[in-house]
Amino acid sequence: MPRQLFVTTALPYANGHFHIGHIMEYIQADIWVRFQRMQGNQVHFVGADDAHGAPIMIAAEKVGKTPQQFVADIAAGRKPYLDGFHISFDHWSSTDSPENHELAQSIYLALKEQGLIDVRPIEQFFDPDKGMFLADRFIKGECPKCGAKDQYGDSCEVCGAVYAPTELKNPYSALSGATPVLKTSDHYFFKLSDPRCLNFLQDWTQDGKLQPAVSKKIKEWFTKDENGEGGLGDWDISRDAPYFGIEIPGAPGKYFYVWLDAPIGYLASLKSYFAAGGPQAKYGETRSFDEFLADPQVEQIHFIGKDITYFHTLFWPAMLKFSGRKLPNQVNVHGFMTVNNGEKMSKSRGTGLDPLKYLSLGMNPEWLRYYIAAKLNANVEDIDFNKDDFMARVNSDLVGKFVNIASRAAGFIAKRFEGKLTAAIGDEGKALLATLQAGRQTIVEQYEARELGKVLREIMLLADRVNEYVDANKPWELAKQEGMDARLQEVCTVCIEAFRLLSIYLKPVLPAVATHVEAFLKIEPMTFADADKLLGAHTIGVYQHLMQRVDVKMLDALFEPPPAPVVEAPKPGGEDMAPTITIDDFVKVDLRIAKIVNAEHVEGSTKLLRLTLDVGEGRHRNVFSGIKEAYKPEDLIGKLTVMVANLAPRKMKFGVSEGMVLAASHADEKAQPGVYILEPFPGAQPGMRIR
Ligand code: MSP
Ligand code: ZN
Repeated sequence: MPRQLFVTTALPYANGHFHIGHIMEYIQADIWVRFQRMQGNQVHFVGADDAHGAPIMIAAEKVGKTPQQFVADIAAGRKPYLDGFHISFDHWSSTDSPENHELAQSIYLALKEQGLIDVRPIEQFFDPDKGMFLADRFIKGECPKCGAKDQYGDSCEVCGAVYAPTELKNPYSALSGATPVLKTSDHYFFKLSDPRCLNFLQDWTQDGKLQPAVSKKIKEWFTKDENGEGGLGDWDISRDAPYFGIEIPGAPGKYFYVWLDAPIGYLASLKSYFAAGGPQAKYGETRSFDEFLADPQVEQIHFIGKDITYFHTLFWPAMLKFSGRKLPNQVNVHGFMTVNNGEKMSKSRGTGLDPLKYLSLGMNPEWLRYYIAAKLNANVEDIDFNKDDFMARVNSDLVGKFVNIASRAAGFIAKRFEGKLTAAIGDEGKALLATLQAGRQTIVEQYEARELGKVLREIMLLADRVNEYVDANKPWELAKQEGMDARLQEVCTVCIEAFRLLSIYLKPVLPAVATHVEAFLKIEPMTFADADKLLGAHTIGVYQHLMQRVDVKMLDALFEPPPAPVVEAPKPGGEDMAPTITIDDFVKVDLRIAKIVNAEHVEGSTKLLRLTLDVGEGRHRNVFSGIKEAYKPEDLIGKLTVMVANLAPRKMKFGVSEGMVLAASHADEKAQPGVYILEPFPGAQPGMRIR
């Protein structure tokens, strides 16, 4: 009986494109899924966009889109990544689908039926301008510990302190800048602290199905500290309108918190796959979605990153258990991908390794699949993408040890034997092929256990044996020797047979290469069972080179930062803005309203007017100003203007100037002549300060 596997990867937030962390997760899951299919098992591999939540709602608002349009646009960009890296999802949906709305509501009602939903008033910050409650990350203010400005509502990036948003000093809304007010609202809780939940989870998380490190971590989450803090608390599953999410039945204006409906999206995606006729077409499935999921034979398997373990090993199984549904059989947690020595990757911005750029540079997606597989094991360990390591693994192992076997033997078979392999293989060849066939069991076990690094190490050890055989038998020399045709055909056949066995073992990692191998060898799509037999006297096709080596120039280009766009920055008024100053710098300049009591020409000067100004000081000031070309004295007398009142007096040829009148002009007076003095709006009085 084939196994029936319902497999998912975490549902990516629909607020951005895939980054290398997503691709890494998909490659891990895809290899496992392809392995299972090759074992003859039935797999339904589904994903979906995680569409809901405040951040997406706000991001959409910022760009003037509805949240629905916003997530649809992101979803429309998914295909080039998934196709590009050969990720073989059977179906892709969204958590904003009708299936998910319906499932989330019915699961909630089932939990309520069980008495596991509680309603409690919660006091929370509310943005009076936006008319909405603010999640912690949308409240900012001064850190209560170190006083750093503009810190988020949950923790300080400067001193690392963790606090409640209500502890912030001078809090403000990051959305509107308004001062938030505390407001009470009813929230819905999933009562995880109920003994039924606690007992269930304590067993379910510690019975050996989860990775040891994961079970251990969960134990810590269960444990209260000496102050009775920590432990498993009830889970706040509601958010108030406006919210992009699913309405809570019987609670107008209340929505499910995004993390309630997100994992339900796994089920909803499978349901929509059933509705689209996928399982029926692929495996002749006759059961309904509900019947399928109710079947205890069906295994539910999730692949996730370590950061979302809590949701998947506590909230999610509890939701499923107490709504009477199938529980996950596996929650496979992986570590994080870092790039070029651990440079941390931001969840939203990703990192230096842009998956689409990788593809657009003509880099082979199977290099990355091979490299990531080589680094992965079944533990929760971070893996680093390292240039030199990447080159070495791809060029020395993948191309050097595997691809080259075919290229060394195929030509002779084609040219000398019309593509015919021979069934007459001597003892040495037989022994080698038997060794390769015997390797299958370990390889299958390690695939099953997600020990992909071990899988590839095992395969490369087998490839070493084949290369030793080639070097010992030297087909290129046999080809030159008289009367050695049969021997040459035999040696090359052994190489091709061996290459086929290695190709079977590598197929989950290298699906496109495998397809080319199948065409080249003129064989049906390979499965693991095919490793039992040999091709015998079979005629193969023409070999075309399967894979290039990595060129270091490609890697350099991959990590080269995108060139800064060369835009001619417009120069306002013909000159760059002066460097930024602080408010303290600005207040040093004392600007005042001045009344022009008198204005007259200065004898001997073509530029200057002598102004007599009243700044409300009980005396007048004498100021020379270079505005003779622009203004007649009689037009200025009696007008108000603006002056710098605390400028040190300056001795000039015509007398002392006790300040400066402000006027506007273009930096290039010739290109754009004209000088314009400032005049305040009516009502300003001499002596008023300008700030
Ligand atoms: N929307 C939630 C998951 C909901 S599942 C019901 C979410 N989305 S995410 O887009 O932030 O992350 C999606 C997956 O990518 C998660 O499994 C996460 O751990 C994984 N990764 C995000 N950054 C990663 C790396 N740098 N490396 C490896 N995986 C990473 O969380
Ligand atoms: Zn601080």
